[in-house]
Amino acid sequence: MGPLLICAVIHRGAKRNKAINILFMFVRLVSLWLTIFPMAYFSIQNIPLTDLAKEFGTPLYVYDANKIREKISILRGAFEGIDLTIKYAVKANTNLSILRLMRENGVDMDVVSPQELELGLIAGYEGKNITFTPSGVHFSEIEYAVSKGAIVNLDNLSVLEKFGATYGSSQPCLIRIKPHVFGGGNEKIMTAHPESKFGISIHQKAEILALVEKYQINVIGLHQHTGSDIKDGKTFEQAASALFDFAYDFKDLQIIDLGGGFKVPYSPEDPGVNMKEVGQIMSDAFRAFCAKYGRELRLWVEPGKFLVSESGTFLTETNVVKRDPVKTFVGINAGLNHLIRPMMYGSYHYIFNASNQDTNKQEEYRVTGYICETDTFSFDYKGKQNERLLNEVKEGDIIALANAGAYGFTMASHYNSRFLPAEVLVDGGVARVIRRRETMEDILRNQE
Ligand code: LLP
Repeated sequence: MGPLLICAVIHRGAKRNKAINILFMFVRLVSLWLTIFPMAYFSIQNIPLTDLAKEFGTPLYVYDANKIREKISILRGAFEGIDLTIKYAVKANTNLSILRLMRENGVDMDVVSPQELELGLIAGYEGKNITFTPSGVHFSEIEYAVSKGAIVNLDNLSVLEKFGATYGSSQPCLIRIKPHVFGGGNEKIMTAHPESKFGISIHQKAEILALVEKYQINVIGLHQHTGSDIKDGKTFEQAASALFDFAYDFKDLQIIDLGGGFKVPYSPEDPGVNMKEVGQIMSDAFRAFCAKYGRELRLWVEPGKFLVSESGTFLTETNVVKRDPVKTFVGINAGLNHLIRPMMYGSYHYIFNASNQDTNKQEEYRVTGYICETDTFSFDYKGKQNERLLNEVKEGDIIALANAGAYGFTMASHYNSRFLPAEVLVDGGVARVIRRRETMEDILRNQE
């Protein structure tokens, strides 16, 4: 009996080991597949990327409306039970069709220039749904925003003084505070540290209160924005708590605006923010603040990237495959003039060959542009120019750059006198042009 039992246990153990091995093999295969194709997709709402490139030409920014709606709803879900207003930071993507989509989904706007404000009005927004959060602008721009019914967010003592002298208590305003908190994907996109130009320092509370008292300024809200590309809940918590501590001396607040900056997953190695967790942290801190403040306030957040980045794909075509003794270059028909994030910040954008799904033959390529200057797209996630493993690329192949919906088109330029790309929105399974490709007339306009 004894040996039999041992045999049975060993046998069962062997069976279990086999099952575990198969499971491990499966997990390894999936993770291997994920490293090869961690973020690749070959269609948007069932329209192949290659068809979009063929129909609308390249370079082309394509946006998926469903993704934007999904992100809005994830954000709202993360702040359940809170009186939340989303103020989309439109600088991320100002296309009128995107603004209209935001408005249809109950999302307000945060703008930084009279032109962005104007775009909002053209997209159907009312001034009262628009916040003007400028930095270092002439006071006439603030007067313009007030004249359009927008709520202004002031970030300088001298501007606060002019605002008080001009409007007294007749116009509401928010004050942007610099909480002296470090947060953001790189130093260029950090906005709340002591040396940042943004916001009035948290150490200047006495001066702020004196001006508020002197002119009876109607301060309805306090605001802070820490930076962009933040995923760590602690940073959001730290900035929020600095603002809350600051806020008790302002007796008539209706709004706390905690800014944007929620990180999106640009690279497979570096995931985005856990919105649910961060929403929970911010909500708990906000509730505790309201309880202590003695009144229920409204919470505003101002995401840009979180709402639109993942909706966007930048489609380009391979002009040349250049086999150099040192490395192989894939030269695409775009450059830093069309997507400046890699060269400006060392940003990672996931790149894949949309024309070739065959993973059997892959190569390391340095993906570069056609600008007469170094314009590498393939930065690694540590911010260094590098190569990417792509399915074999042939001239004419469509190369896609993911996560291009935010600060892609809006930061594009006419460098090298190239046309700006066209933009397409895919909604309800239909793709339509929402900005035409430029022509020589656009380049010549306004020139003598
Ligand atoms: N609120 C304020 C006051 C801001 O200055 C910004 C962005 C945002 C909200 C939205 O931040 P987001 O949620 O998009 O991270 N061009 C850079 C990002 C610059 C962000 C400027 N301010 C990039 O491409 O990474």
